[in-house]
Amino acid sequence: MEKKVTRIGVLTSGGDSPGMNAAIRAVVRTGIYNQMEVYGIMRGYSGMVDGDIFKMESKSVANIIQRGGTILKTSRCNEFLEPQGRKKAYESLKEFGINGLIIIGGDGSFRGAQIFSKEYDIPCIGLPGTIDKDIAGTDFTIGFDTAVNTAVEAIDKIRDTMDAHDRLFVIEVMGRDSGYIALHSGIATGAENILIPEKVTDIEAILSALMEKERRQKLVNLIIVAEGKFGGANEVAKIVRERLPQQEVRVCILGHIQRGGSPSCFDRLIASRMGYAAVECLLEGKHNVFVGILNNRLHYTPLDEAVKKKQRISEEWMKIVKILSS
Ligand code: F6P
Repeated sequence: MEKKVTRIGVLTSGGDSPGMNAAIRAVVRTGIYNQMEVYGIMRGYSGMVDGDIFKMESKSVANIIQRGGTILKTSRCNEFLEPQGRKKAYESLKEFGINGLIIIGGDGSFRGAQIFSKEYDIPCIGLPGTIDKDIAGTDFTIGFDTAVNTAVEAIDKIRDTMDAHDRLFVIEVMGRDSGYIALHSGIATGAENILIPEKVTDIEAILSALMEKERRQKLVNLIIVAEGKFGGANEVAKIVRERLPQQEVRVCILGHIQRGGSPSCFDRLIASRMGYAAVECLLEGKHNVFVGILNNRLHYTPLDEAVKKKQRISEEWMKIVKILSS
């Protein structure tokens, strides 16, 4: 029979995302409501390895729901990739009597949790906290909505000056391996082209379309590029400048501004709902899963499956991009 979870450890790992604090708050308060003890683990898996752990109270999470970043801090921990590091982490948890773990992070963090849960008898629950929205098994990830709205706000501003000068802008948004921010912000701002890592880009077709537009004196063009595509916006701009020397090309890299800021109402809500559900999972013995939301219902995906799949970009979205930008 499985042991009852009485002491939860909670950590945030990988790139931070707006809404992580709201998720921590939900975990702490739901845990305490259910007579559990909740421990904060600092700097993701690094704090687990080093034993940087402290007991949290309800007041530890007061006044944080509206704050970006993460009060527990975060990191990408190389030591945890090694068996020796994971052993140290397990020993730290034992020292504090922690017998359940909630990991708020992206696919890399889930991979760590999946391996750890196979090696040690500590149930792990994942919460999808990433601006990239690239996790299969959930329609939303904590932080994506805020990040994409930050990008849209910035791109709208660039559009004003772009239009005033009849310029072509190449704007780089975040997403080394994921095109969701590019896709959603590009559609929402009426971009002519959206370049993402998941799809093959016919750069020649883009250049010919730009040449044709140049003939029609349509010089205002917006290209959104995901960070990981073709080496980013600078590379794309270089190609365009070489082939269309008449065009006034400018580059803007939005960068980490997309990861910060106060979470949107939507991100606060899903973080609260998922954080609450993660504790319920530990109580009900639904172990080694991550909590997602599919079709507005909570959905639980085994970590074993989660690490094998990535959220795919639908062909329908690509068709919408093509039709609406013509
Ligand atoms: O957290 C995800 C992400 O923001 C990606 O979109 C981006 O490619 C990467 O992290 C950047 O990581 P870092 O902050 O370590 O440069």
